[in-house]
Amino acid sequence: MASDQRAERLQRLREESKKGGGEKRIEKQHEKGKLTARERVDLLLDKGSFEEIDAFVTHRSSAFGLDKKKIAGDGVVTGHGTIHGRPVYLFSQDFTVFGGSLSETHAEKICKIMDLALKNGVPVVGLNDSGGARIQEGVSSLGGYAEVFWRNSMASGVVPQISAVMGPCAGGAVYSPALTDFVYMVRGSSYMFVTGPNVVKTVTHEEVTSEDLGGATAHSTKSGVAHFAADNDADCLREIRRLMEYIPQNCEERPPEKEAKKPDPDKAKKLDDLVPDNPNKPYDIKDVIEGIMDEGSFLEVHEHYADNIVVGFARLNGRSVGVVANQPLSLAGVLDIDASLKGARFVRFCDAFNIPLIVFEDVPGFLPGTDQEWGGIIKHGAKLLYAFCEATVPKMTVITRKAYGGAYDVMNSKHIRADYNIAWPTAEIAVMGPKGAVEIIFRKEIANADDPEAKQNELEEKYRAEFANPYRAASRGFIDAVIFPGETREKLIKAMRISHNKVDSVPKKKHDNLPI
Ligand code: HXC
Repeated sequence: MASDQRAERLQRLREESKKGGGEKRIEKQHEKGKLTARERVDLLLDKGSFEEIDAFVTHRSSAFGLDKKKIAGDGVVTGHGTIHGRPVYLFSQDFTVFGGSLSETHAEKICKIMDLALKNGVPVVGLNDSGGARIQEGVSSLGGYAEVFWRNSMASGVVPQISAVMGPCAGGAVYSPALTDFVYMVRGSSYMFVTGPNVVKTVTHEEVTSEDLGGATAHSTKSGVAHFAADNDADCLREIRRLMEYIPQNCEERPPEKEAKKPDPDKAKKLDDLVPDNPNKPYDIKDVIEGIMDEGSFLEVHEHYADNIVVGFARLNGRSVGVVANQPLSLAGVLDIDASLKGARFVRFCDAFNIPLIVFEDVPGFLPGTDQEWGGIIKHGAKLLYAFCEATVPKMTVITRKAYGGAYDVMNSKHIRADYNIAWPTAEIAVMGPKGAVEIIFRKEIANADDPEAKQNELEEKYRAEFANPYRAASRGFIDAVIFPGETREKLIKAMRISHNKVDSVPKKKHDNLPI
């Protein structure tokens, strides 16, 4: 074969491999408001940085006439490129080829880039858009999924793994995204469920649409499976790029730093008067976060799920931090099952990837009730406690107001090895709030008083003066300093500086036994 023929052949194969399932199917994809696998790759990565791997791979099956239907790439585009100049491996399922279904070879392609990512210490981004296991391949396809799941598990905590669900994702296929660190979904065009609406109808007689059952809204508000919900593909990919600015390449690295910025001046100014005099009045903890962190840097995770706790990444003087904060605006900031799970998962991610933790605490305690007790608030609350206990990254806590009961211990207290714990003058640190406390310890005095209500109020005032402040904790050294709110940023920056090279560890073990 002459060299120009060889060149022409390679060129032709390259062009063919870019076509996926062909023009008609691409049109159909666009009609659904979805981008193609390659368009997504282009938007996710820095311009021109994509290096494709395995573009010519085809499936090996012959059942149901598949041997006459081979499409280069076999329904998934794989390779590496850069985001903000830093390398990532990625796969992008191509719905125009066999509905993006996963064959043995499709799985092998994904596994190849996952193995390389682990070896090279590089994050993996998976863009999922697939009809699930390639039906014609039977158990080979199921085996392929399991190979991916195994790698997801092995890579967990070693390199960040990000999943975007941008189309169907059903049956066991959901478990690959579920094993990764962050799940993005697209409203209106993606869904995830273990069993679809038809099976649900047969088994439970419920009638529900795919969107209601497992769409982006359901998973980002009710189940917590999705951390982020985007309005469209482009929005989703932009958001993934933003997340990557806060996280390191692997567990051996520190997160990237950016130029420091002062906080929003209006928000910073308001800090000193933010906490209302009335302890029952709410305020927005996000105003605290934004008044302290670098302007515009707060990236909220799980924004619409369990909003009684707020978690997310931010930058403090240019350095990436993980923020965990009780939200007095929702359920008075109480800890419940969902908030505990949300907090624990985030704390563990930050600890695994060397991102210092900053906690803003205003928590009246754990949520009472049969729903919570029978739902296992004990074991789920224990997860949050465990997560803070085992974390060895720099850990700081700012108590803005309430720190009551077990929740005081759980929310990154000194006793579970937080590095720097400070409180505002508005802090109330005690076993319980004044009302509950006096009702228990002065029950008889109140009942026997001429005016029980007046007696109760008098005793509550006394209790408040004695216990509902930060000075008892400060006198024991459980609080390192009581500070004015406006001083918080500078204090935290100094604490970050001094703990920059913190070395801490947990006892040697095979692995922990987190209360699951
Ligand atoms: C092979 C598939 C396929 C599959 C879709 N296609 N799913 N081919 N295996 N799993 C093909 C179709 O034949 C069609 O081919 C093309 O993809 C597009 O599919 P359409 O049905 O035309 O698209 P749409 O109307 O948008 O519907 C999408 C869909 C539907 C909802 C995903 O295709 C569907 O229900 N597919 C089956 C889903 C499923 O039950 N998968 C198994 C789940 S269980 P042509 O040539 O016409 O373009 C599972 C277990 C994993 O995955 C276990 C892991 C442990």
